[in-house]
Amino acid sequence: MSTAADAVTEALSELHTRFTRLRDGRPADYIPQLARTDPDAFGLALISMDGHLYSAGDAGTPFTMQSVSKPFVYALALSVLGLDEVSRWVNAEPSGEAYNAISLEPDTGRPDNAMVNAGAIITTALIPDTPAAPRSDRILDCLSRFAGRRLDVDEQVYASEAATGDRNRALAYLIRSTGPLPVDPVAAVETYFRQCAVRVTALDLAAMAATLANGGVNPLTGDAVVPEPVAAQVLAVMATCGMYDASGEWLLRVGLPAKSGVSGGLIAAGPARFGLATYSPRLDPSGTSVRGRAALGALSERLGLHLMHNPALAASTVTLVATAGDLPAAGAAPQDRALRERVGVVVAQGAIDFTAAERVLYALDESRTQGAGPVVLDLGQVTGVDRVARAMLRGGLGRIAAEGVRTAVADPARRLALPGPGQRGAPPDPRSFATREQAVAWCAGGPAG
Ligand code: DON
Repeated sequence: MSTAADAVTEALSELHTRFTRLRDGRPADYIPQLARTDPDAFGLALISMDGHLYSAGDAGTPFTMQSVSKPFVYALALSVLGLDEVSRWVNAEPSGEAYNAISLEPDTGRPDNAMVNAGAIITTALIPDTPAAPRSDRILDCLSRFAGRRLDVDEQVYASEAATGDRNRALAYLIRSTGPLPVDPVAAVETYFRQCAVRVTALDLAAMAATLANGGVNPLTGDAVVPEPVAAQVLAVMATCGMYDASGEWLLRVGLPAKSGVSGGLIAAGPARFGLATYSPRLDPSGTSVRGRAALGALSERLGLHLMHNPALAASTVTLVATAGDLPAAGAAPQDRALRERVGVVVAQGAIDFTAAERVLYALDESRTQGAGPVVLDLGQVTGVDRVARAMLRGGLGRIAAEGVRTAVADPARRLALPGPGQRGAPPDPRSFATREQAVAWCAGGPAG
């Protein structure tokens, strides 16, 4: 039976059909085991913030993460050490160079890009390594939580890279030669090879990208894998550095934080919207999947996913600015009508952030029809109020109340945490009620509570 949400599957299937025709590029062979893959495997997957899964083609085919592991291990390092400490050892500057470049700052020897191999090797070295919790185990655990299931290492791919990965070892020696370091990048290279050989599917990668997009909480399991600020920091580095020397053009054309890997995986994240992943091992000369690049570019255009699109297109926040006299009032006595006419009412909906809070405060000022009339802000249809918006709304309502005007919110979920009717805030503090009608009655001169 088809469902309404098949529209998303249809979009993915259509891209799958369209780009299966692309036969440019070939699988990486500098890690010999990667050349043994099926060059024509092609899968796409999308996971929403509600944990809805959509896929097309070979979305369940296993392959190794390779460089797609880098942002997640960077997230682990940030969670353990914080941004300032991590940044002492590895910078997040788009270096405009290939993934295997000798990309070190000339004066300090610090890798300047956390998403190229040099930066990723030292990032791995920063993960604590103790007998009780070896570095490799910590990394595998963290990657598994991002995916929402237990992952494992493809030992053949690991052995293949360990046998041939002298360029990465040389990079680690170069980093170590630059001065005293608290960690040993040479020892960490073998762990880096293991993290690159962690086996996933496109659906796993979509879950991992969706976890970053969802503020660090896996939308399938509800597991808070990394703190929200860390998820934001990782997405920022993916946006500027994730596609190596093609990062600028990618952000310009596709407009999403992304990360590619030489086994053919590619992820992109729409902050607060979705995680996307593709798998196709035919690579372009820069080591990025040809079909993945084409498919994500087309999907971004088709679904309007570019991050820099005009935010004015977002849904309206304020759905009503009126006086209480214009609103139905069950049981209000006729003599109350005049009092109710003086009460301005603003109804807001959706998620309230800085931008939405500015709209609400502007509407509150508009609603004060008689210059100094009481005001009610109805948050009954609001789905969330972030930290910044809470402070703005409390501040704005407080300023109106400080003029001696009765000011109330209908806030059944108590998102602003203002005092309720029975509680004694310092008058004339704004008051919080469960319903709009209770708030209007109080503002119109009912019991002050
Ligand atoms: O270090 C390497 O060369 C590989 N294990 C990973 C490189 C990679 O995936 C580059 N991305 N496109």
